[in-house]
Amino acid sequence: MTATTEDEGSRRDFLFVATGAVGAVTAGAAVWPLIDQMNPSASVLALATIDIDVASLSEGQQLTVKWRGKPVFVRYRSPAEIEAARETPLDDLKDTVARSGNQPGADASDANRSLGENGEYVVMMGVCTHLGCVPLGQQGDYNGWFCPCHGSHYDTAGRIRKGPAPMNLFIPELAFDGSTITLLEEYKA
Ligand code: FES
Repeated sequence: MTATTEDEGSRRDFLFVATGAVGAVTAGAAVWPLIDQMNPSASVLALATIDIDVASLSEGQQLTVKWRGKPVFVRYRSPAEIEAARETPLDDLKDTVARSGNQPGADASDANRSLGENGEYVVMMGVCTHLGCVPLGQQGDYNGWFCPCHGSHYDTAGRIRKGPAPMNLFIPELAFDGSTITLLEEYKA
């Protein structure tokens, strides 16, 4: 276990990967606690694209990566989390659009919002679609993400299920080669 990740079941999932000023960033890069998110160093620059090495993640672990000044959640989901998301009918969703930069018009099925052979990875902006707070991981009624600002509950695929947020958490346009996720462009609703 490294400082970049933490165990499943923990209520604090906010560790930060420094994007730094040059080159690609991996999950093994320097990290610092969430508190620093509130006071970003002037030297932390918004990179156009970053690489995130997810091969170092294990099941149930999550990273929060800073990209263009915003948090991005990267989670390696457990089979139970995948199943919970996949067995949810689209009709039960508040927002039926995937909100994915790779598939702008697709429906919000779990398959359209996840990566990996079995949909084990999810990557999304850690910005609540209500008023922009940072949701907390593995919390809320759906054990996905919970935004404490006004009570929005997202499921394990980052889809809004309850509360005032109008849309699913946004998935940036990205590339994935099986071990590295490259964030390319922000999703525009
Ligand atoms: S900002 Fe998240 S619920 Fe209002």
